[in-house]
Amino acid sequence: MNILYIGGGFVGTASAAVSADSGHQTLVFDIDQEKVDKLGSCDRDTIESCLFEQGLGDLLVRNKERIRFTADYSEVEALLDTVDAIFMCLPTPEIGETGESNLSYYIAAAESLAGALVKRNNATQEKYIVIVNKSTVPIDMVDRTADIMDAAGVKHYGVVSNPEFLVEGKAVEGSMKPNRVVVGAWKQEDFEIMRQVYRRFYDSPTSDYIEVNPQEAAAGKLLANYYLFNKLAVCFDVIGRTCEAFDHVQFEQLRRIITTDNRIGSWGFYDSLYAGGSCFIKDARSLSHQLQTKGKTASLVNETYLANKRQLELFVGRAKTEAGFDWSGKTVALLGLAFKRDTNDTRNSPSIDIVHMLKEEGVKKIIAYDPAAVPMFQKDFPASEQIEYVTHEFEAIKEADVIIVATDWPQFRGLADIIIAELDKKPLIMDGRRMLQHRYKDLQHVGCKIIAVGSPFIS
Ligand SMILES: NC(=O)c1ccc[n+]([C@@H]2O[C@H](COP(=O)([O-])OP(=O)(O)OC[C@H]3O[C@@H](n4cnc5c(N)ncnc54)[C@H](O)[C@@H]3O)[C@@H](O)[C@H]2O)c1
Repeated sequence: MNILYIGGGFVGTASAAVSADSGHQTLVFDIDQEKVDKLGSCDRDTIESCLFEQGLGDLLVRNKERIRFTADYSEVEALLDTVDAIFMCLPTPEIGETGESNLSYYIAAAESLAGALVKRNNATQEKYIVIVNKSTVPIDMVDRTADIMDAAGVKHYGVVSNPEFLVEGKAVEGSMKPNRVVVGAWKQEDFEIMRQVYRRFYDSPTSDYIEVNPQEAAAGKLLANYYLFNKLAVCFDVIGRTCEAFDHVQFEQLRRIITTDNRIGSWGFYDSLYAGGSCFIKDARSLSHQLQTKGKTASLVNETYLANKRQLELFVGRAKTEAGFDWSGKTVALLGLAFKRDTNDTRNSPSIDIVHMLKEEGVKKIIAYDPAAVPMFQKDFPASEQIEYVTHEFEAIKEADVIIVATDWPQFRGLADIIIAELDKKPLIMDGRRMLQHRYKDLQHVGCKIIAVGSPFIS
């Protein structure tokens, strides 16, 4: 089949790579020329310097005969005569004040597409195509997409909802072996086209292929994300808080007790300073806005969002309230800039808010390190007198008055040895991921004070 992807970000590129790997001729259009050049470079390191996803570079190089990237819309127009499915993989961030989805990227792309689709097949539009919403969008978005197409006079088309469930950091694995593929359509012929697109999953014994209507598909995505977000918030705001309140209740022991119940499960049972990333927060806010627009309450959804926000403020605030630490004039080692391990994505990374908070507190210097996300983070915070980037965690901590562990990169587990053996001046340690919990006693023994999510203050 001929498949077009509009938007070559995490979702568009991972999904397009799998499309090519499934034997489809695949074109990815993105307005970001630099991204297009890197992703289309056929060089693994260049690809992964742009989208740091394990296996992505290899998959794109392996399928280079079947996948192209372009920022030139005339290539899109040329494909429309023969295209079978067009995947919309545009960003849908939240609008700050209301939380509703900002659909401007999506609508701009859909309007350009509609203008081009009416000209296909010498304006006869005889070829039937499906437009597939892969972006996470409002529950009634398929109908709104159809309105855009109808207004432009597009004929012979269907709109399908096919939400993406990949997990960043495991995007390729998740796209190659999804546990479910959800396709929402109103028309039988659209289901049939999608079955051809996804033949490898439709017949797969390991993926659940779920056909529903478009509203159920879109709602399923938003609600699944909310459910996961809520689990994290419960972990931080209830379980972690309980551990912070009692001297002899250890988070890891509670994990053993609680997660052995199959009804509860183990996913997400980690304490953390924040659940960041591009999806959970904005999707919860979008869900809340949609429910309220329909006159329904969204109290629990809103509270989940607030609990997560509160978590970061409480964590940073504990330096003052519990350790009596005065930030002004201090040197801070900030370890971890990506919103989580195994990605270079910094969207909604806790470190962004931390840098803002530290600047307000008047710190002298922030020395930041991340194994993958420094270039992304520098787009928000270029190196300056107040913020320096280093290439190894040891460089960051050696002069520090305080060390903040903000991302759960596995290598940070080894920090305690260096702190104990190499640092003369023992810093305050703020462990936002419990990465050093196995060494808290040793660190305390050599004079470190520790503030950790899910532990009382260790002095
Ligand atoms: N990242 C995830 O883990 C994830 C998982 C599931 C669903 N989603 C959803 O998928 C959608 C895309 O997310 P993402 O993480 O891939 O975003 P992204 O920001 O990584 O990628 C979006 C891409 O769209 C491009 N773009 C913007 N306007 C365009 C236009 N008019 N024409 C062509 N390209 C345009 C941007 O340049 C960017 O490369 C969002 O709705 C998101 O909620 C994301």
